[in-house]
Amino acid sequence: LAADDPDFMGREIAEQPETVERILSELAPRVSTGDLWRELGLPHFRRVAVLGCGTSLNAGRIIAHAFGAFGAIVNTAVTASEAGAVVLDAETLVIAASQSGETADVLRALDELQTGRGRVLALTNSMHSTLARRADGVLNCSAGPEIGVAATKTFVAQVVTGVCLALSAMVARGTILRAQADAIVDDLRRTPDRLENAIAVSRQWVPDIVESVRDAQGFLFLGRGAGVVYAAEGALKLKELTYRWAEHYPAGELKHGPLALVEEGTPVVVIESADGRLSANVAEVRSRGGRVISIGGPGSSIPVVDGHPEAFARSGRVSQGRGGNTFAACGPLESVVPMQILARELAIALGRDVDKPRNLAKSVTVE
Ligand code: M6R
Repeated sequence: LAADDPDFMGREIAEQPETVERILSELAPRVSTGDLWRELGLPHFRRVAVLGCGTSLNAGRIIAHAFGAFGAIVNTAVTASEAGAVVLDAETLVIAASQSGETADVLRALDELQTGRGRVLALTNSMHSTLARRADGVLNCSAGPEIGVAATKTFVAQVVTGVCLALSAMVARGTILRAQADAIVDDLRRTPDRLENAIAVSRQWVPDIVESVRDAQGFLFLGRGAGVVYAAEGALKLKELTYRWAEHYPAGELKHGPLALVEEGTPVVVIESADGRLSANVAEVRSRGGRVISIGGPGSSIPVVDGHPEAFARSGRVSQGRGGNTFAACGPLESVVPMQILARELAIALGRDVDKPRNLAKSVTVE
C-alpha cells in the first residue's frame, strides 16, 4: 500500500489520511461557528433522513446517528432502493449521500419520497452530478477522483463531512455549545493520524491474516454500538472484492441465529469496543473454533489504535450528547482501514481484479 501501488484501490486507501486532512482544513473553521450549516441556506428541520446505497448508505447511517447524538434529532437512514415505502413529514431534512451523484436508486428515491419544500441536501463527490443539480443544497465531500469500484476514500470523506455538517447544524440551532463543538473538532483533527496509524499496522499484520483465511468461503463481521456500521462496511468490502460470502451482525445477535454458521476455522472479524458484553460474544465464537480477527485492543490481531481497548473506544469519544450519553463523533472510523486492506489483499491473493470487481460498476445508473 503506497503511492506507487499498481492498483487504484491501494493508492486510494493510502490517500485517506490526506483526504481527511484536506476536508478538515476546509470545513473545521466553519463548524463550531455554525456557518457550514447556515451557508447552505436550508430551512429549519425537526427530523433527518439520510438516503443512500451500499457504502454511501453505511456512511449515511453514521451521519444520521451524529444528528441524534449531537442534538437528539430523530433520525433514520433509508435504503434508497426501498424508499417507496418510507413516510417522511414535511419538516424532515433529507440528505442524499452518493459519491457519484448518479445512482439511479437515489434519484428515484427523491421522486418517490414526499419531501418538504427546499429540504433535500446532496452529499456528493461530484458537484456537477444529476443529484447535485436536483438538490436544494449541495455539500461536496471533496475526496478527489476515486477510480476503484470499491469505495474507500469517499467513504471516510462522506463520514467526516457529514459529521461536520451535523455538528455545525446543531451549533446553529443552539443545541450544542460552541466550546463543546470545538472539543469535538479538535478530536476530529486527530483522524488523519489515526488513519495513518491504522494503515501502518495493517500493512504489518494483514498479510499473515490473509494467508490464514485464504481458503475460507464465508466470513462474519461483528461489532457493538457504533462498530456495527463499520462491520457492515467491512463485510461489504470483502464480498465485493473477494467474491466470498460475508455477513455482518451486531455481536449481540450472534446467539439469535448466526452462531450456527461458526465452525472450526470460520473467520470472524470483530471490531473491539469497551462494551464488556462483546467479550462474551467473542468467547462463544472461540469456543466453537472460530478464527477471531479482532480490530483494536490488546491482543487483537490488528491493534489499530494505541494498543488499548479503552483508548480505542475513547478514540472517537469527545462529548456528552444530550441526555448524558457519551458519543463518538464518527465511531471507530479507523477500523475500516484494516478491513479495506484485508479485502484488497485477500482479493489479490485470490487473483481478483481489485479495481474492477466482476458484475459491478462504479456508477450504478440502473435500478
Ligand atoms: O455513487 P454512490 O455512492 O451512490 O454509489 C453507491 C454504491 O453503489 C457504492 O457505494 C457501492 O456500494 C460501492 N462500490 C461499494 O464499495
